[in-house]
Amino acid sequence: MGKIILTGDRPTGRLHIGHYVGSLRRRVELQNSGEFEKIYIMIADAQALTDNFDNPEKIRQNILEVALDYLSCGLDPAKSNLFIQSQICELTELTFYYMNLVTVSRLQRNPTVKSEIQMRNFEASIPVGFFNYPISQAADITAFKATTVPVGEDQLPMIEQTREIVRKFNSIYGEVLVEPDVLLPDNQACLRLPGTDGKAKMSKSLGNCIYLADDPKEVQKKIMGMYTDPLHVQVSDPGHLEGNTVFTYLDAFCKPEHFPEFLPDYTNLDELKEHYQRGGLGDVKVKKFLNKIIQSELEPIRQRRKEYEKNIPLVYDILKQGTEAAREAASQTLSEVKAAMKINYFDDLELIRKQAEKYAE
Ligand code: TRP
Repeated sequence: MGKIILTGDRPTGRLHIGHYVGSLRRRVELQNSGEFEKIYIMIADAQALTDNFDNPEKIRQNILEVALDYLSCGLDPAKSNLFIQSQICELTELTFYYMNLVTVSRLQRNPTVKSEIQMRNFEASIPVGFFNYPISQAADITAFKATTVPVGEDQLPMIEQTREIVRKFNSIYGEVLVEPDVLLPDNQACLRLPGTDGKAKMSKSLGNCIYLADDPKEVQKKIMGMYTDPLHVQVSDPGHLEGNTVFTYLDAFCKPEHFPEFLPDYTNLDELKEHYQRGGLGDVKVKKFLNKIIQSELEPIRQRRKEYEKNIPLVYDILKQGTEAAREAASQTLSEVKAAMKINYFDDLELIRKQAEKYAE
């Protein structure tokens, strides 16, 4: 059987370069590798509503933003199926049956859920829908018999939870579901790109993100204002790399060919780092280099976005077609699930015949 990808994002805002290096860039590579039989990319609006149920307009608006970000990064509707989660009712149905296979205490132990509960001050009153979202995520993944789930590190507990559900389901009802593997970014710096202020995470509320849709001026301003090494006061002072956001971004974005193109005084990143640590290399020079790299990476993305922005109905049409195709696949899995669970009464002619025989005796 061929390999199948399922992954997605919550439409709670525009996507930023942390999403890009953590997942989007990789998805496009995987898409173009030809190694996958099917690729499903999901806009997880139903999941986004589990902690934004009181703000449906936000989710509604951001579906288009995320779709535009996807397409502008190079996800190609001819190769990848882009779809909207809430429009596939089979996912909700699967979730309901998987709920039988998970205990409350197991959900409580899920590290991602734990930290999100803290972040959202949900301790006192956790909405059931939110608490349940790891199970719904298992439905997302298994509905498409995904073998491969490319996500960021924060999603590891979700995939582990999915694998447990698959094993439990298959052991009780028979081998129907596929146990997925996670695919993490291979570059350490890409696992979680810090904010431009040096804080651990890019987040809209902290105002420390560089968005894929930012114009060149905004990007430059954000890069030139980035957090570096507070001890590196004079150019001649030795600089530190640890916690130095500019160098973390270089680790995530810099390729050897950027040196001859943008900074020919150095041949590679190690040399640049070495000079910085020794002293005599100013932050501004490094930031300018980073700016050139990021601009060159974002430019084709911006161009594609502009094209799609001229044809918004087309974007919705892409989502609609992707959703229809995804729904067919999910529906097939749901039929198999229901047959395995023996809740396919009307399709099971054998059942009807046997029951009739029993009463005929
Ligand atoms: N939880 C993911 C996020 O917060 C989004 C998501 C929903 C997802 N369902 C998924 C990711 C299934 C991978 C597979 O970004």
